[in-house]
Amino acid sequence: MKVNHAGKIATACIAAAASFAIAGSAHAQTVHYPAGKSMFDAQCAVCHQAGGKGQDGLAPPLTEYPGKYSTTAQGRAQLTSTVVHGMFGEIKVHDKSYNFKMPSFASASDEDLAQVLNYVVFDLNAQHGDTKPFTAADIKAARAQAMDSAAVHAQRALVTKGLGL
Ligand code: HEC
Repeated sequence: MKVNHAGKIATACIAAAASFAIAGSAHAQTVHYPAGKSMFDAQCAVCHQAGGKGQDGLAPPLTEYPGKYSTTAQGRAQLTSTVVHGMFGEIKVHDKSYNFKMPSFASASDEDLAQVLNYVVFDLNAQHGDTKPFTAADIKAARAQAMDSAAVHAQRALVTKGLGL
């Protein structure tokens, strides 16, 4: 009897602690694009890491540049073409170089790709001005462009130059 009672209290304490931890983390980071986050965690985090913090020598961080790209028409086109066509060739984010292949996600739906970009831009980047969310139509426009991953790389150089990055 006594043991059962203690056990119940212990279970209640663990449940309370767990819900507190969940409430605590939800408060710390509100996700505006949960569908985009699901896709990111399942398909992008393997390289870009959770929260897009990047991995030295493998994949760049996505926590600063994408927000800046999203503020110009050319930069927005760069983001959509990167996920649709992939990117290949050396790039720099600040003083760090990355030179590995970003795969094409052309097999994903327009809606899923728009949502994953919205997660990256609006949930992972603090600076994105008052830019508007990506839509399925933006992804469709990127698909209509015949580009390969090298062309996306060349276009990135123009975008970063234009933004002074
Ligand atoms: C196999 C590893 C890998 C996966 C998976 C991957 N990426 Fe990438 N990503 C890269 C690499 C590597 C680069 C840099 C490519 C280069 O060096 O040209 C990159 C570049 C990018 C860039 C451009 C960053 C910039 O500053 O120009 C974006 C945006 C991006 N990835 C988003 C995503 C999203 C969204 C997903 C999931 C749908 C994803 N990536 C999945 C490896 C990956």
